[in-house]
Amino acid sequence: MVVDVEGEIVNTSESDVKETKNTKRPERKSGNYIMESLPENGNTFHVIFSMKEKVGALADALQIFKDNGVNLCRIESRSSKRFNNDYEFIVECCSQNGSLNKALDQIKEFTQYLQIISRDQTYNARSVPWFPNRIKDLDRFANHILSYGSELDADHPGFTDTQYRARRKYFADLAYHYKYGEKLPHIEYTKQETETWGKVFNNLIKLYPTHACREHNHIFPLMIENCGYRADNIPQLEDVSNFLKDCTGFTLRPVAGLLSSRDFLAGLAFRVFQTTQYIRHPSMPLYTPEPDVCHELLGHAPLFADPSFAKFSQEIGLASLGAPDEYIEKLATCYWFTIEFGLCKQNGEIKAYGAGLLSSFGELEYCMSGKPELKNFDPYVTGDQKYPITQYQPIYFLAESFDDAQQKLREFALSIPRPFTVRYNPYTQSVEILDSKVQLESVARNIQSEVQLLMDAMKKIH
Ligand SMILES: [Fe+2]
Repeated sequence: MVVDVEGEIVNTSESDVKETKNTKRPERKSGNYIMESLPENGNTFHVIFSMKEKVGALADALQIFKDNGVNLCRIESRSSKRFNNDYEFIVECCSQNGSLNKALDQIKEFTQYLQIISRDQTYNARSVPWFPNRIKDLDRFANHILSYGSELDADHPGFTDTQYRARRKYFADLAYHYKYGEKLPHIEYTKQETETWGKVFNNLIKLYPTHACREHNHIFPLMIENCGYRADNIPQLEDVSNFLKDCTGFTLRPVAGLLSSRDFLAGLAFRVFQTTQYIRHPSMPLYTPEPDVCHELLGHAPLFADPSFAKFSQEIGLASLGAPDEYIEKLATCYWFTIEFGLCKQNGEIKAYGAGLLSSFGELEYCMSGKPELKNFDPYVTGDQKYPITQYQPIYFLAESFDDAQQKLREFALSIPRPFTVRYNPYTQSVEILDSKVQLESVARNIQSEVQLLMDAMKKIH
């Protein structure tokens, strides 16, 4: 496995792999949940560079690292997407050794391109935080979990229920071992679990016609028809994921516990929604302190089948890639007030589209009761709004429409300081980093071809 931010396949030798595995892993909260074989190493970072001179250029660059006492864990080369007929090099540096900053300053003089990628920004403020480039890269942080799905707080309804806790561990372990491309785990839900789902389902469907947005009400019957949504059946993630893929290209993948905001948002860039599969405790069917399968499948899933909402969700994900930490917080807050707790205007009425509302009988009624404060969605304001997570929201943000929210978010994304623009390539399911003339020419050619297609279609319509 390699660090490849450009979606190209590059090879790594056996010795390189061994060296990475033996490198000491960083201390992290809940670090014991990081898989042994995970190639990502928080104490190292990667430098991608392309030299001005070609003959002997790599040897000169390596000499600079050596002179500055910087240990390299691996070195790779590949043809460049940025410069025609040229190569670029990727080196993984161990940050504990030598004068890395000095080495980078020296190498910069000989390079026509240099980019630093790291998961740990505390060491080098010049680096861009690592982010997944291909959809299968999501496997690399899927188990960087802040809390495992079976760890319950003392006030959790299932805290003293050993059977429930064992069941939660079963679900967390399934998700923990899941890898991209595998079939989503099929669950035989128990009678009691199905009854809990049924209570939630029957309560919520009473409110949907009057409280849910038009898109949710349009898609929900399709999910009943295609995905097994019924009071006496908890739909399988695989069926829901396949349905979403047909509609908008969104897919689901199971998650073993709480991910960081950065990692969670990155999934959206690939139209992947990381979802839980367990169900809340049967003692309190209308309450859950954390997302469960009712929240995911009743609240989130229907909206991901709507093209405009899917695009809006992906925009948040794309804006997060490589963004500095303070902007990740703003984007996560925008996510909270839209995808989780968003309200929108439709035909002069206020409707809910946030999953936290569409999966909570109590809050769905409350949000339209006139008691909470309503503000217009504006990422610059919304992104700074503080909010409680264990009670009903005192403030909600209203979107004019998904398209309008998407446009505002796109404008906000332009204010995020990062040295490149990203674009999602649905054919390769990868993120393209646009930071060179060659790539921009390619984008221009694509636009030209789309415009020709448009002109042709318009002529035929007339
Ligand atoms: Fe959610």
